Amino acid sequence: MKVTVNRKAHFNAAHRLYNNAWTDARNAEVFGKCANPNYHGHNYELIVSVTGDIHPETGFVMDMKILKKIIQVEIEDQFDHKNLNEEVLEFASLNPTAENISVVIWNKLRVKIDVKLDLSVTLYETPRNFVNYSGN
Ligand code: NI
Repeated sequence: MKVTVNRKAHFNAAHRLYNNAWTDARNAEVFGKCANPNYHGHNYELIVSVTGDIHPETGFVMDMKILKKIIQVEIEDQFDHKNLNEEVLEFASLNPTAENISVVIWNKLRVKIDVKLDLSVTLYETPRNFVNYSGN
């Protein structure tokens, strides 16, 4: 019997979508306003989902206090109120699209969560645009 527990988190961050190998015109065509050289911000909403067996002694899949702390230290403290391109090492040469951000978040969390538990992240860049990554 597998049960999924979910924790919501939030961070505000700035980014710019840009491919260095392209001309400004091509970047503007593909990334639109998101290629603005002066950056722009998003209110990112993150949902971290952990799936596993219910532990017989606690009744938990995972202690949510611990999950909350991991997300706070590994993600919120690193990303909140940051310029992702300029201040977060992982995006020094990786375009900070919602897709790439979700993969970076998953990788940061995966090493902190018991390998017996499955991990999935959902990242909302806007209320209508969101991506999922489960490590595949
Ligand atoms: Ni954007």
